[in-house]
Amino acid sequence: MARSILSKAVQVVKSALAVPQSAAMSTAPRPRVFITQKVPHGGPEMLAPHCEISQYDSEDPIPRAELMKQVAGKDALFCLLTDKVDKELLDAAGPQLKVIGTMSVGFDHVDVKECVKRNIPVGYTPEVLTSAVAELTIALLLATSRRLKEAMEAVKSGAWGTWKPLWLLGLGLEGSTVGIAGMGRIGVAVAERLRPFGVAKLLYSDVQASPHAAGVGAEFVPLDDMLKNSDFVLACCALTPETKGMFNATVFKKMKKTAVFVNTSRGGVVNQDDLYEALKCGEIGAAGLDVTVPEPLPTDSPLLDLPNCIVLPHIASATEDTRNNMSKLTASNILAGLKNEPLPKQVPS
Ligand code: DGY
Repeated sequence: MARSILSKAVQVVKSALAVPQSAAMSTAPRPRVFITQKVPHGGPEMLAPHCEISQYDSEDPIPRAELMKQVAGKDALFCLLTDKVDKELLDAAGPQLKVIGTMSVGFDHVDVKECVKRNIPVGYTPEVLTSAVAELTIALLLATSRRLKEAMEAVKSGAWGTWKPLWLLGLGLEGSTVGIAGMGRIGVAVAERLRPFGVAKLLYSDVQASPHAAGVGAEFVPLDDMLKNSDFVLACCALTPETKGMFNATVFKKMKKTAVFVNTSRGGVVNQDDLYEALKCGEIGAAGLDVTVPEPLPTDSPLLDLPNCIVLPHIASATEDTRNNMSKLTASNILAGLKNEPLPKQVPS
């Protein structure tokens, strides 16, 4: 990548990736794509032979004002879950914008209705991250239920004395009931991975029954039944107007006092103040969060001081292969949109 100084404050680079000779010699202007951050190489490499790429050259999200400036006149936008794509941004881009690809399965940061109004298809990255997110959900569930945060801190602080039969007792999965809120692809993958642990019952709640649930032995129940009966409650649902803040004081009160709550979906599905109170007052047993509001969670958040709350920095999809596959799928979506073809993975509208 060759650096071109487009602005003093920001680093935007234009792609100088190898371009096949036929494409290089063509005189037709190539569509212009803006990539909002540094992303795994697979996507930019796919776009480079066909597009003129400019990219915000940072591992941090692009500042909003700079994004508004850089998107102007582009034919395609390659964005991330940290970039808000709303009416204002679409106006700033201009009417030539043909396609948006977000390198994420969640698309709550995109005003999909507004894109539909403007005939701009939006691509996203389901499936390629399902395994990684399901694995991390299990990891966080085990870490939280077996109190790994407290255990690791005890080793470090010297609180680890002699072996004590009553110390740091957690909850095991074997024979337990697990409740999954949201039986989409990730919910199903989590359920599949739970079975070898000898879970006795898998319950799930959703807006409707899932055709895939029976295959993983999960039973569709009303939310209240799931909350009341589950030893572990896992949030695997998308953030929508209906799920926003759904895990609140009322919901925590309906859970078992020992319940372990895990969220790998979006921070917005949880009322964090209510969660703090529930954890502090023993309304529920423990929580493991991969997602919060805001992100990053401020280091003085009271949640971080709770021994029974583990917080991870939104790493559910963070494996090398997964992120590269997300990057490649985003590029495929963009290339299809630029050719007026159906996107391989278009967000449902
Ligand atoms: C997504 O892609 O929406 C996930 O949250 C990333 O981990």
